Amino acid sequence: MSGDWINRVFGEDALQGLQRIPDGSVDLLLADPPYGLGKDYGNDSDKLDTAAYLQWTEEWIDAALPKLKSNGSLYIFLTWRFSPEIFVMLKQRMTMINEIIWDRRVPSMGGGTRRFSSVHDTIGFFARAKDYHFDLDAIRIPYDAETKKARSRSIFVGAKWLELGYNPKDVWSVSRLHREHRERADHPTQKPLEIVERMIKASCPPGGVVLDPFMGSGTTAVAARRCGRNFVGFELNPEYCALIERRLAQLDAKKPDERVRA
Ligand SMILES: C[S@@+](CC[C@H](N)C(=O)[O-])C[C@H]1O[C@@H](n2cnc3c(N)ncnc32)[C@H](O)[C@@H]1O
Repeated sequence: MSGDWINRVFGEDALQGLQRIPDGSVDLLLADPPYGLGKDYGNDSDKLDTAAYLQWTEEWIDAALPKLKSNGSLYIFLTWRFSPEIFVMLKQRMTMINEIIWDRRVPSMGGGTRRFSSVHDTIGFFARAKDYHFDLDAIRIPYDAETKKARSRSIFVGAKWLELGYNPKDVWSVSRLHREHRERADHPTQKPLEIVERMIKASCPPGGVVLDPFMGSGTTAVAARRCGRNFVGFELNPEYCALIERRLAQLDAKKPDERVRA
């Protein structure tokens, strides 16, 4: 694939960097922006007040969406605090396909005494058009032997869903990357590869391009490479840019058959 922007993470503001990418060239936009909660990413990007945060969100959305192909899709990680406003913005521009709840499997600990403990992230899945790319077979969850046996009646024999597995539901229960997790890199809001890879396998064809405007520790770049897709993205913090290079180099140092099991 040609293009001096392919398979690169640029250490710059996404709003400027997006200008490098030709319109209609990206299969999947996978965005994990600052959540507007005041996290420290070594910059002030998560310290905007509500009005400024929502205005900035609308700006980057309008800069990024034209980069999608006509059958392209968007996944956006959010919290419940701002997903209502941002989903409305996106519904004015795209078709909403799913709201996915990422249950971070936070263990029960004390927690607040004036509210329920929040243990999920809200993910929006949107498409540009009805013919959006979606490869269900690539993300089916295989049944275990016991379940398969329990469905051995003749009406089920040969059923594709029984052989290949079922469609993941819209609640994804995947442990967050706690400090001791083997995938964990030095970034405060690193996402698990399992989640990002499911999005990529479902919504970006092999050899296609995934755009992540807010790369953080580079999970999208690593996941794209492990899945045989191309990536492009941006990250403001130079230390995170170096971390992304290290993660990609570690992956490339593995034998091809070990890369997907990392
Ligand atoms: C929620 S984190 C992304 C985490 C990432 N998904 C991962 O798994 O590591 C958001 C990242 O966006 C970066 N960022 C914030 N504003 C940005 C901007 N305008 N352009 C590029 N990067 C930005 C922050 O420095 C931070 O690392």
